[in-house]
Amino acid sequence: MLYLNGQFLRPEDAKISALDRGCLFGDGVYEVIPVYSRQPFRLAEHVHRLDASLASIALPNPHSAAEWMELVQAVIARQDYDDQSVYLHVTRGSASERDFPFPQDVEPTVLINPAPLVTPSHEQKARGVRAISHADFRWLRCDIKSLNLLPTVLLREAAKRAGCAECLMFRDGWLSEGAASNIFVVKDGVIAVPPKDHLILPGITYDLVLELAKQHGLPLEVRRISEAETRAADELWMTSSTKEILAIVELDGQPVGKGQVGPLAQRMDAHYQEFKQ
Ligand code: PDD
Repeated sequence: MLYLNGQFLRPEDAKISALDRGCLFGDGVYEVIPVYSRQPFRLAEHVHRLDASLASIALPNPHSAAEWMELVQAVIARQDYDDQSVYLHVTRGSASERDFPFPQDVEPTVLINPAPLVTPSHEQKARGVRAISHADFRWLRCDIKSLNLLPTVLLREAAKRAGCAECLMFRDGWLSEGAASNIFVVKDGVIAVPPKDHLILPGITYDLVLELAKQHGLPLEVRRISEAETRAADELWMTSSTKEILAIVELDGQPVGKGQVGPLAQRMDAHYQEFKQ
């Protein structure tokens, strides 16, 4: 069962207008919330980021934080599996004609659509994954979790065709993030990550990694990271709500460090798994 505009429906019964602005313009924002054993993970943080994304596109938030949490819990309760990936989006709704400026008196479209959660396999965790890289050709508001995902679609397809799990992006010689993940770099025992500015998504997992590093006394720097530094790293990690903390052991065909999952990736993943309990 999914949730659409106030109703719980079977996916085959859920219909959205062909004039929905999400469909015509990508005029909306989204969240992906992981759910372990029916417990949403960091739900308040996701709801907070949703509010920030909505504010950034001047779309009034149709629900309070408490209402969002209740709705997400109601959707979780209606599924017959325990570990879920809850996709949630809000669009500016559907007007009677296709016109770029905001329509007046239109209700937003709210969709909450869960799927079984697929986290990295044991093999991916143990061996790490491979990545390619590409110039970051997205816009300059990557801090908004926008429905305009064509760059992500193209870059993840390129990664898949290369037998890789992610595509790292560089803008003007600096690391930004992965197509659908944040990227951490380790050199000489120090973890580094680019700052949360308009060039990257402020990841919920990113924030948790920062918290865990602090809690466990692991050195971590938030600063700009050059492409050369990224390629010379001892370890690279990708982080996201569904990938958790996943080591990248090969970039563009070259081994990252020793080409194996590094000790700090193992440690951070252990802290993350412990935190999840
Ligand atoms: N993607 N950067 C980008 C561009 C992302 O799309 C994502 C998440 C992240 C990581 O954010 P978080 O830790 O909050 O999941 C970073 C989601 C999972 C997706 O689009 O499916």
